[in-house]
Order: sequence, then C-alpha cells, then structure tokens
Amino acid sequence: MRKPLLQLALDTHDLPSALAPLQQAAPHIDIIEVGTILCLSEGMDAVRIIRSLFPDKTILADVRIAEAGGIIAKMAFEAGSDWVSVVSGAASSTAEVVYDVAQQHGGDVQIELSEGWTWNQAARWREIGIDQAIIHRSRDAEAQGELAWASADMDNIRRLSEMGYRVTVAGSVRVDDIPAFASIPVYIFIAGRSIRNAPDPAAAAADFQEAIQRTYSVERREA
Ligand code: 5RP
Ligand code: MG
Repeated sequence: MRKPLLQLALDTHDLPSALAPLQQAAPHIDIIEVGTILCLSEGMDAVRIIRSLFPDKTILADVRIAEAGGIIAKMAFEAGSDWVSVVSGAASSTAEVVYDVAQQHGGDVQIELSEGWTWNQAARWREIGIDQAIIHRSRDAEAQGELAWASADMDNIRRLSEMGYRVTVAGSVRVDDIPAFASIPVYIFIAGRSIRNAPDPAAAAADFQEAIQRTYSVERREA
C-alpha cells in the first residue's frame, strides 16, 4: 500500500496568520491547502501569493464549488492552484464542467463527500473522470461531539478505493488518529488545526510524517 501524503489546511482569517505556520511546516508538507476560510477572506490572492512562495508544491484551493463551476475553477487555476474541491451536493453537470476546466489547466478535482452523498453519484463522478474524493468529518458534527472516526468511514474509504478513487481524509485529524487507518488505503491525510495551532508547527508536521511512515511501513511489512 502506498504511503499517504500529508496536506496542511490553512483555514485562517488572513494571509499572515497562514504564512507563519506554513513557512515553518513546509519542509514536512506534501500539499498546501488554501482553506475555504482563507479563500473567502483573502480571495484568490491567497492562492497567488502562496504559489509565488512555493512554486514547487502542490496547492489545493478548497473553494468547495457548488455552482458556477467553470468560472470558480478557472479563477483558482489561473491563480496558481493545482487542484480544486467540489461539494458532493453540486449537480453532476457542475462537477463535469469543473473537471473539464481542470483538464485544460493540467489540474485535478477533489469531490468532498458530505452527508447525503450516494454510491450512484460516486459512480457518476468516476464516469466523468474524477478520481479523488475527500471523506470529511465536518466541523459541525465534531462540535456536536462526533469525535472518533467511524468504521463506516473506513468501509467507505475501502469501497471508494475499489472504485478507483484516491481517498483523502479530513476533519480535525490528530496525529493519534493515524494508526487507526492502518490497512486503509488513504491517499492524503489533511491536518489543519493540529499543525497550525501547535506551538511548533514544524515539529507537529514532522510528527505526522513519522506516524504515517510508522503506520504504513508496518502495514507494508505485514502485507
Ligand atoms: C473545514 C476544512 C478544513 O480544511 C479541514 O477540516 C482540515 O482542517 P482541520 O484539521 O483543522 O479540521 O475543510 O471544513
Ligand atoms: Mg478544507
């Protein structure tokens, strides 16, 4: 099983607050996420500036497209993003147009799976060509006390990956959560607050990489 990548989500209200932890953690990060909150507060300038500072990193703009897919995707790709996100509640025509724009820019699309998504939709997105999905534990569910990753999440990751998806895991992921995913084919772990709010973001990101390495190298030895 391939070792998962680590993505740092920057959901801050302004760019300086995002850049400080990013500069520290960057050597340990595979993908930079310009979070929804930062996209809304600073617009695509946040993507533009982060791209100029990190020309070689993969950047996701977590713009959570629900409508006007072609326009929003074009804005994000032209600002320097490699990937954009689409919510599972978007019409499949929206997902399709976003995927087309991504292809034109050499980019990619992640579908964020929220409550109510269906396996029929998952099959349709694969037909469109989309092969990245995010299993996301919502902040709102977390605030209501849903703290552990459910076995239903693990089953969904397995089944999605059998359909050809590369599956990302997000939503208050902590370093202690990683071992629970042993034997689960995760493509990317996203961590936001666990790294950003740590006293030492570089050390926190390094801890994540170590936990991923440990979990998945044990997995490889047992396979
Ligand atoms: C929130 C998001 C966040 O980017 C994602 O949840 C990662 O951040 P955190 O680890 O702080 O939850 O998309 O809706
Ligand atoms: Mg996000």
